[in-house]
Amino acid sequence: MPDTLTVTDNRTGKQYEVPIIDGAIRATDLRQIKAGADDSGLTTYDPAFMNTAACRSRITFIDGDKGILEYRGYPIEQLAEHSTYLETAYLILFGELPTDAQLKDWTKQITLHTMLHENIKKLMEGFQYDAHPMGVFLSTVGAFSTFYPDAKKIFDEQSRKKQVYRLVAKVPSIAAYAYRHSIGRPYVYPDNDLSFTGNFLNMLFKMTELKYQSNPVLERALDILFILHADHEQNCSTSAMRGIGSSHVDPYSAMAGAAAALYGPLHGGANEAVLRMLHEIGSMDNIPGFIKRVKAGEGRLMGFGHRVYKSYDPRAKIIKRTADQVFEVTGRNPLLDMALELERIALEDDYFVTRKLYPNVDFYSGLIYQAMGFPVTMFPVLFAIARTSGWIAQWEEMLLDPEQKIARPRQLFVGARKRDYVPLDKR
Ligand code: ACO
Repeated sequence: MPDTLTVTDNRTGKQYEVPIIDGAIRATDLRQIKAGADDSGLTTYDPAFMNTAACRSRITFIDGDKGILEYRGYPIEQLAEHSTYLETAYLILFGELPTDAQLKDWTKQITLHTMLHENIKKLMEGFQYDAHPMGVFLSTVGAFSTFYPDAKKIFDEQSRKKQVYRLVAKVPSIAAYAYRHSIGRPYVYPDNDLSFTGNFLNMLFKMTELKYQSNPVLERALDILFILHADHEQNCSTSAMRGIGSSHVDPYSAMAGAAAALYGPLHGGANEAVLRMLHEIGSMDNIPGFIKRVKAGEGRLMGFGHRVYKSYDPRAKIIKRTADQVFEVTGRNPLLDMALELERIALEDDYFVTRKLYPNVDFYSGLIYQAMGFPVTMFPVLFAIARTSGWIAQWEEMLLDPEQKIARPRQLFVGARKRDYVPLDKR
């Protein structure tokens, strides 16, 4: 006997059996429930998608209460310890860990696609000298759609693969150019001898030396941060990627929208906001007053809370460990003590405990980025580099899912109905 939900409509006295599949009912099954002949049927109301699944996915599993995060079944802790970002990106995109030959080919393909079209430089020169690198990043990703019109062939597997190579490989180059533009330094071309992350650091920080050599601890730390940020199922930016992509636009245009969604302080902009918050608090003495204001609703403790995690974000635990390794090389970030004190208070305070507010991935990542020499404006860009693999994997899953159509939520209309136009002199 299949699981069903029995619904009794008190308006008509009628009963309906609605199938429950994979722990969910289909919202369209409720359309049959009508109060009368001219009723279009019952709908569900779920602002901010608090309890609505919009897709079936095989990519990322999260159990927010238990603090579990898995990519394609592999726990994030194991990937952060043993994998590299490129290998994890392959896993996310293609569903399995690569064999040795597959990893070599994938690495080669990514390495071969790191160069940017020379006109991208001219495009970037049009931005103000102090343009936020995230604005530059998302505009450039959008502009890519004009450089690669073949990307419109979204149902051609080979074409999609090409865009995957281009996107994963070129986002670090775009990010590095955006950064160099913002500090008025010449752009650095990719170095194909280096690893994915090593080359990114080269494009960011190379000066006049013939060959850039990154610190292996810092390179590994950044790679781990990329692994941790690679995907996070149906968050705001991924939903944007899927939603925009559902109109069958090319992946560059869809990803420009996803990056825009990530830019906001409630999402990928949070790591930047954490640093700004710590600077604003200024000293340990000001922490109690700050917490008091947060509890009075006069602001948020940035880097705390999560829509899905109602326990410690597993990524935050890994980041805290990575921070210690980074600070051994760079020296301790003076803001760390304030962050630790905020965390200590928040984990004991009734306000945060009852609302299940724990540090999320962004509470400590900004401190690491800052210690590594990144300006705060680059933080969301670093997030976007890592999330590119997740966005494209989710986009492709959406495209190939026969159940998906163009995304089009319903509304509950509560405004005025038909009114006659009033001429200007009569209003
Ligand atoms: N500081 C203080 N209070 C908070 C915080 C916070 N960071 N987050 C939530 N709350 C409170 C809310 O005021 C609300 O209290 P109330 O019930 O008295 O009204 C309650 O906790 C629930 O908050 P919601 O806003 O309903 O939670 P939601 O799931 O919608 O929001 C979000 C999740 C956006 C992440 C929120 O916790 C937040 O704004 N955090 C700070 C920003 C941040 O760190 N974002 C990064 C998220 S991780 C990522 O995107 C990579």
